[in-house]
Amino acid sequence: MASVLARALRVASLAGVRAGINVAIPRALVFQPSVSPKCAARTFSISKTIFNEQPRLRLGSPAPNFQAETTHGPIDFHEFIGDSWTILFSHPADFTPVCTTELGAFAQLEEEFKKRNTKLIGLSANGLDSHEKWIDDIEEVATNGSKVGFPIIADPERNVAFLYDMVDHQDLTNIDTKGIAFTIRAVFIIDPNKKVRLTMLYPASTGRNTAEVLRVLDSLQTGDKAGVTTPINWVPGQDVIVPPSVSDEAAAAKFGEFVAVKPYLRYTKYPADILSK
Ligand code: BEZ
Repeated sequence: MASVLARALRVASLAGVRAGINVAIPRALVFQPSVSPKCAARTFSISKTIFNEQPRLRLGSPAPNFQAETTHGPIDFHEFIGDSWTILFSHPADFTPVCTTELGAFAQLEEEFKKRNTKLIGLSANGLDSHEKWIDDIEEVATNGSKVGFPIIADPERNVAFLYDMVDHQDLTNIDTKGIAFTIRAVFIIDPNKKVRLTMLYPASTGRNTAEVLRVLDSLQTGDKAGVTTPINWVPGQDVIVPPSVSDEAAAAKFGEFVAVKPYLRYTKYPADILSK
């Protein structure tokens, strides 16, 4: 009986969602874990993508396309990616302390990302006016003289945030004044084939590490070009790993010397010659 009622409510609410209107749904039917009575009575503006468009994002999945307003004008995400690698990263909100330091750090590293044919694009669940004012603050206090040269998506309705599963689920009190779930700190590395190659999800309390984002990008690009994998804490210039799928003969032909610590753990020098071709 309860499940029939839940289904009827979901169908009814979906019709509202499709029409782009706010829908009142008993919270317990949407989010199963414990919900405070205060939360349960609220009206939630449900993103259009939450029910019928949210894909399962796995490594190797196609990066979902979307259209959005950004601080550099409207974009079609796949057109924005073009033939580049892209780093899409989200923040909980404008004018918040940890987010300000993160935007500043990404701005300072933008030239490094460009050298790697990689575009940055941020997302925060606020409107364009707010973003523009916030960028002034970021450049004042967090970029060490750099400009925020990349666009920031304005996603106040969380359409992109839901599409990319960037919303907080665990903490149901973590909602804004409109009653919408918080956007968390997510990072997606997307390759020029528009495939998701890395996802990172961080809680609102913890700023990310831009050097780690750059390091993973280097590992992915090195792996794609040279057919190698990279060990723990690897950084460019250090030895790389010959994958088990490559025979000793093929490894010798491709890389010259290699060291077999175990038959399955073989190191070879950083493949600078392959990477420079
Ligand atoms: C911050 O950026 O400091 C922040 C944003 C949202 C929740 C908690 C912290």
